[in-house]
Amino acid sequence: MPQPLPSPSPDFLSRFSEEGYYCCERILEAAACARAETAIRNSRPFGPELFMTEEAYNASEKTHYGTNPLPGRNILDTLDTTFVTANHSLRSYIAALLGENFRWFYSKLVCRVPRDAMPAWVLNGIGLGPTTTLGAFIKPEYRDIAYYHDNEIHQDIMDYARMPEENKEHRLITLYVYLDDVTLRDAPTCVAPGTHLLGAGNFPYDITKTGSTWQYRHASGQSMETSLKPVPTPAGSVLMWHSCLLHGAKPIADGRWRFGIRYMLACAKGAKNIPLDTINARIQNPLYQEKETTARAIFPNHNGFLLMPQSDWTRSYFE
Ligand SMILES: [Fe+2]
Repeated sequence: MPQPLPSPSPDFLSRFSEEGYYCCERILEAAACARAETAIRNSRPFGPELFMTEEAYNASEKTHYGTNPLPGRNILDTLDTTFVTANHSLRSYIAALLGENFRWFYSKLVCRVPRDAMPAWVLNGIGLGPTTTLGAFIKPEYRDIAYYHDNEIHQDIMDYARMPEENKEHRLITLYVYLDDVTLRDAPTCVAPGTHLLGAGNFPYDITKTGSTWQYRHASGQSMETSLKPVPTPAGSVLMWHSCLLHGAKPIADGRWRFGIRYMLACAKGAKNIPLDTINARIQNPLYQEKETTARAIFPNHNGFLLMPQSDWTRSYFE
């Protein structure tokens, strides 16, 4: 008989509903996180060697598409991640949101590349500004990990426009596992609390600084005041968020490479009346975009370098 799951924190659902995210601090076994981190760091040289030469890049297809980890090319297939997926306490939180029999829908290891490890030809190519992913610049043999320099403010829902309709029915949420300490000085994930309540928006998102707060204007004409709140995550913490929550990450300035495991979680196929549905019922606007607004769809491609618009937020960290 499987053991019954323990109860999550009593304020979990109300906070996830109000703020669109929740952090389970140090919920995972520290030693297991450290073992995974060591195995990752030993898997390849984390330095400039990961990147193609500029000549090899110029001779390549110059596209980020198809450069993410895929089935058969995913470092997580070689790691024991049961310290995450079998963690009873964590499972209780997920089940409280997605119902029993939720599924680990997709997973990849995310590597945050420190800014000072970026080759000059890549930094110059992206205009020293924000970027979407670094996949196209990475040697093909290392593409079993997803590499990022920064993440402009976005909703994860923007990735789902390309998904088949049946996947949308699964009501995906994002879950991030932090293997190592990420403090306020370490370019932590930043979230804009409550922004999920306006539903799916369009990239680039209209979010501007107004004094000490941020104003988010949705395409529907609705707007709200929010903040861009960095969330420190001690090793073994798990941060989960709604697919419509605005979030991002600044570049790493202190030279330390960082790793996190990103999961997309789905409810059981055909599940009805899961708690997330109650939260979604508060959202007046559509939960999914009708058309694709990923960088590929809307930004000019300069030799494979997608030149991104800069929000007030990214401008502030590149100044
Ligand atoms: Fe994201």
